[in-house]
Amino acid sequence: MNKMDNDGMKKRIAVLASGRGSNFQAVIDAIRGGRVPAACVRLFTDNPQAYAIERARAAGIPVTVVDYAAFPSREAYERDLFAAMQDCNADLFVLAGYMRIVGREIVQAFSGRIINIHPALLPSFPGLHGQRQAFLHGVKVSGCTVHFVDESLDGGPVIVQQCVPVLEGDDEDTLAARILEHEHRCLPEAIRLFCEGRLVIDGRRVHIR
Ligand code: GRF
Repeated sequence: MNKMDNDGMKKRIAVLASGRGSNFQAVIDAIRGGRVPAACVRLFTDNPQAYAIERARAAGIPVTVVDYAAFPSREAYERDLFAAMQDCNADLFVLAGYMRIVGREIVQAFSGRIINIHPALLPSFPGLHGQRQAFLHGVKVSGCTVHFVDESLDGGPVIVQQCVPVLEGDDEDTLAARILEHEHRCLPEAIRLFCEGRLVIDGRRVHIR
């Protein structure tokens, strides 16, 4: 089989990221390393300053900036983002440090085709700063979660989770750094399972075939 044929069999994924993009980089590296049978066809970002843009350029991945600050309303922003997402013809959209809530129209249009990485063991500590919430709460174990995106806040069906102990002497930053290492493994793993066609959503449960 030549490379073109092989590429034709790969799932097309697009990534949405708002900031430094280390999870995006983990996905790029996993694809390059042959661990994820996908082609990353586009980066979307709401932030023209996002370092994720540099990572995309370095990897030769096209970038679409939909600058949130340039729109008069959230609805207007979402309309443009939605149109751009439809255009890119991706099988899967990966929220990798995308710091906005995805609107209903997009969630419904791409139901079962959007996943998100969250830096806590959901359903505990949804929303912003999951690591800080866990640290301040005093839990002994936290972690990360990759889940399908539905209309709730970080509440969609869970695909993979990994536990991370909270150690004596941790602060919010050391805990976040340890969780991030696990995020970088969990997210490519969840994408791999999706791309291999092994995820079956059954109500709240995701079966891995
Ligand atoms: C990660 O901790 C992710 O779980 C959270 O925001 C952070 C983004 O980091 N949603 P990066 O941009 O992937 O480096």
